[in-house]
Amino acid sequence: MHGRVRVSRRYLAMVVVGVTLFSLRANAADPTGDVANGKLLFRDNCSICHKANGAGGESIGRAMSADISGPTLEVHYLHRDSLIARAILDGVDANGRQFDKVMPRYRGHATPQQVADLVAYLKSLP
Ligand code: HEC
Repeated sequence: MHGRVRVSRRYLAMVVVGVTLFSLRANAADPTGDVANGKLLFRDNCSICHKANGAGGESIGRAMSADISGPTLEVHYLHRDSLIARAILDGVDANGRQFDKVMPRYRGHATPQQVADLVAYLKSLP
């Protein structure tokens, strides 16, 4: 009896450790972006300023919306998705310089998955 209880406890402990490690790994990895969902998010939240094709060039007050279509964006952000995500979340460029305040800061308003979806979509724009 005793032996069986100890074995099952050890087994339980292993399961708990395994699940914990798995979820830590899942948290550490950036979510994979979904282009189709990013397209919807962009249409509803960004296209009003950045135009339907992401080319920008729209005057909003003193600011001019940026071209955020694939190739231009990737060059500006050194081909690093994490820097593009930071631009969307915190309104800073690759060097950490703040954008005009017309560009919304999405931290707290978009989930990591939504930001990854947006980044995937922007990169897919010609
Ligand atoms: C109210 C207008 C507005 C909305 C809405 C808006 N933006 Fe912007 N965005 C701007 C302006 C203006 C700039 C340029 C800011 C500057 O140059 O200082 C900008 C800049 C950017 C940049 C930096 C581009 C670069 O080359 O450095 C990114 C990336 C960006 N926006 C992504 C988005 C995304 C993604 C959304 C939607 C989730 C969005 N923006 C919604 C106005 C807007």
